[in-house]
Amino acid sequence: MKKLTVAIIGGGNRAQVYGDIMRKIPDKYQIVAVAEPIDNRREFLMHRHKIAPEMCFRTWEELLEKGKVADLCMITTMDRLRIGPAMKAIELGYHLMLEKPIASTLEECKMITHAAEKKGVKVIICTVLRYTGLFVKLKEIIDSGRIGKVMSINHEEGVGDVHQTHSYVRGNWGNSAKSADMLVQKSCHDIDIIQWLIEKKCKSVQSYGMLSYFKRDNAPVGSPDYCIDGCPVGEECPYNAVKLYLPDDSYWMRSTCAKVFEVTDADVEKAIRETQYGKCVFKCDNDVVDHQTVNMLFEDDITVTFTMNAFNKGGRHMHIMGTKGEIRIATLGDEVIHLYDFVKKQHEDIPFNDLGCITGAHGGGDDGIVQAIYEELNGVYKGKSVPTIRESYYNHVITFAIEEARKKGIMIDFEEYYKKVEEN
Ligand SMILES: NC(=O)c1ccc[n+]([C@@H]2O[C@H](COP(=O)([O-])OP(=O)(O)OC[C@H]3O[C@@H](n4cnc5c(N)ncnc54)[C@H](O)[C@@H]3O)[C@@H](O)[C@H]2O)c1
Repeated sequence: MKKLTVAIIGGGNRAQVYGDIMRKIPDKYQIVAVAEPIDNRREFLMHRHKIAPEMCFRTWEELLEKGKVADLCMITTMDRLRIGPAMKAIELGYHLMLEKPIASTLEECKMITHAAEKKGVKVIICTVLRYTGLFVKLKEIIDSGRIGKVMSINHEEGVGDVHQTHSYVRGNWGNSAKSADMLVQKSCHDIDIIQWLIEKKCKSVQSYGMLSYFKRDNAPVGSPDYCIDGCPVGEECPYNAVKLYLPDDSYWMRSTCAKVFEVTDADVEKAIRETQYGKCVFKCDNDVVDHQTVNMLFEDDITVTFTMNAFNKGGRHMHIMGTKGEIRIATLGDEVIHLYDFVKKQHEDIPFNDLGCITGAHGGGDDGIVQAIYEELNGVYKGKSVPTIRESYYNHVITFAIEEARKKGIMIDFEEYYKKVEEN
């Protein structure tokens, strides 16, 4: 099989993670170009992957001006910086490994989808849950008919209180104008996995959701703007930036806040003094929801509820109810799929290949997608996880419809909605 060459656009956290996975399988991947404006990040990736200095660029425009220099273009820029590089890379004939969401607006998602279909290139969205041992096994069980016809799914995404404050209050995704609405940018994973598991068309959606806790009204009396300036409730506050970022507990959180891969205490201290990562979680510029519920109806009368919520330790839980049995899973701290068979009246614990948890290492999903893309682009992929861009787009359109239903307080007929989106 052919070794794939890769050009990275957006050399941040995700590029570092995927890049390191590719680096471990040099017979399959070679990173040959990078575009990243932050000097320390670009230089880190240049040395890490032995990229020729003349193939290291500050912006995506400079890299793509060189034409098609690799088989695959990995686009891991922020949500709002997806459309430009994606459209240009498609025009040049690149296959894309494109981070989720496809883009931050419905119009842009549609443009990318249509352009990719017209050009005939593969655009593979990084909905990494599809590639985890847990969800691959779950799909296999559902497809085998073991629990009969699926009637209902209750699915919960516990974002986790600390993760919520790090990413969706202080971080890149707190403000919808800088990223997108919560379901589009975060829970597009969940809507995608639900639709993938049942493979049915969506018929209608409705939703409630709001930002209730992480806002100014709840700031403790006397709290300074920055935690490091001494907060009267700093000792008991779970989100005190000094306690969250300065101890060397989470490389991911420290390197994200400082925007430095080889991060030091001095980098972190500077970040929590000068950036929003050090701000009181009740005084940031966030506006995305901290809890949201969704009701969905799919073909064949399948009802689905989905809840995204900040107020928990984190992890996903799913309960799938079929005519012959039910399944329960948890992504954090559980190592088996729990099945109850109505006919045998028996419980069964079914192991899956990957014992990792979904949060953090994405339960093997990051490794899984890298391997799957290699096989897909070499024409030998046999799994069910790699979606076409049309499938990913369809599931993104559902999330946009959900957000519209939430904001307008209405139920949306999804068949009509999708038809209109495609006609416009
Ligand atoms: N699949 C998943 O589970 C998953 C998990 C986390 C994040 N994400 C998605 O990945 C994307 C990136 O997230 P991240 O945490 O890596 O963000 P990041 O901020 O660490 O990385 C983005 C990088 O793009 C760079 N950039 C900015 N302007 C650029 C330009 N003009 N040309 C080239 N590069 C430019 C930034 O300097 C930054 O280093 C987001 O859209 C996010 O939603 C997906």
